[in-house]
Order: sequence, then structure tokens, then C-alpha cells
Amino acid sequence: MLLVPARPERNVANGDAPNASEWASLDAIASDVRSCTRCSLSETRTLAVPGEGSEFPSIMFIGEGPGFNEDQQGRPFVGRAGALLEELLALVPLKREDAYITNVVKCRPPENRDPSPDEVKACWPFLEAQIRLLQPRVIATLGRHSLMRLFPDARISDRHGTIMKWRDGIVVFPLYHPAAGLRSDRLKQALQEDFAKLPQAVIAALDASREAPPDGDGSRPADDAPGTDEAKDGGDEPQMSLF
Ligand code: URA
Repeated sequence: MLLVPARPERNVANGDAPNASEWASLDAIASDVRSCTRCSLSETRTLAVPGEGSEFPSIMFIGEGPGFNEDQQGRPFVGRAGALLEELLALVPLKREDAYITNVVKCRPPENRDPSPDEVKACWPFLEAQIRLLQPRVIATLGRHSLMRLFPDARISDRHGTIMKWRDGIVVFPLYHPAAGLRSDRLKQALQEDFAKLPQAVIAALDASREAPPDGDGSRPADDAPGTDEAKDGGDEPQMSLF
């Protein structure tokens, strides 16, 4: 078991987060996701899937979009891919409730097709607000769409299992999608090897936050084309938490 300092205490319920935009809490985001009609996926969904997990995660996992089981239950990664995700988390070791798990698009694309660029764009404000409120040290992207949302030019086959610096001191750790691991033994082995390296990504994030200048009032505006190589962090005393 690895001990890592969590982000400094903050009050998510009161919207005590930099640039909390229009949502002051994860519950407020979830409520708007559930009633969202920003794109046509809302017409075919059974339940929207906002995301779930710790409000103070060391790691945030971002998948592509809900599948059949997730659409039925309104929870992310509860089908076969979710079972493999939990198996992989146990290698770290990490329980799913200690992380935060969500998706690039919050409603199931029909027939599990890839989400369209317009659907990804329509859903981005929700994901961006979740990141702002959660302030994860590490974002582990699951699959190609999730990586490309943060780094549009990155290729999953080149970058999986490597440490990438995004913005606000957040380290991005690209991983293959667990569904790919269900289809290919080679990709399952790559997933196992990459998950075993997750603690290194957390340590890299801690180093990045030590190097980074203080965040000032934290009012840096968001852009809609992320993928910067910056490292920034608030400068308060960290608290210890289990990872
Ligand atoms: N695949 C995803 O990308 N997300 C889920 O929630 C389930 C399967």
C-alpha cells in the first residue's frame, strides 16, 4: 500500500474549487447530466451516467461512454469491462470507490458506436467541471477517445503507460480501454503492466505539484482545446490519505 498526500482539503459542496464555473458541486453536475438534452444521445439513452466515486480521488478514470449495462443502471463500468477494470485496480492496489470514474460522454451511443465529435464537444462542459471540482492528481484515460479529449494529437499505441503533463499540475496516464483487454490477450497484458505503473504516475504528479508555482486565486480560464504541458497547483499543506 502506498501513502500519498491528497490535494489540500476543500469544500466541494460549497463549490470551493478554482473556476468552479456554473456548477458548485458534483451532485449539481450529475443532476444536469441526468436531464441533459444537449445532443441526440439523450433521445436514445435509458439512464445518463454522470460518474461516481471519491470526492477526493488521487486518480480519476475517464472512459469513453456508457455501454448497455451502464445505460441500464446509470453507473459507469458495471459490465464486463468494469469487471476487468476492478481486477486491474486490485493490482495497484486500489478500490474503485477510492477513485472517481466517469466517461467522456455521459449517455450511451446507440449500438456502442464511437461518440461523434459533436457529442464529445456537447458533453465536455460536464467533464471539465468534474475535473475542476475533483482536482485529481492523476487522470488515467481509458481508451483512445478519452486520451484524445485531453491530447488531441496523441496516439494511444505510442503513449499508453507513459506520464504526460496536462494542465493545473495534473498528470495524465493513458491506458488502453478495458474492453480492448477483453478482446486481446496482448492488450490485456499491456493493461496489467501499465496499471502496475500507476503509483509512478502519482509520484510524478506529486513532483510536478512541488515544482509548480502557486495557483494564486485559481481563476485561470478554461479553454476548449486542452493539451497544454503546464504544471500548476495550489500551495497549501497536503494531507495524508491512503491510495
Ligand atoms: N465503457 C466505457 O467507456 N465506459 C463505461 O462506463 C463502460 C464501458
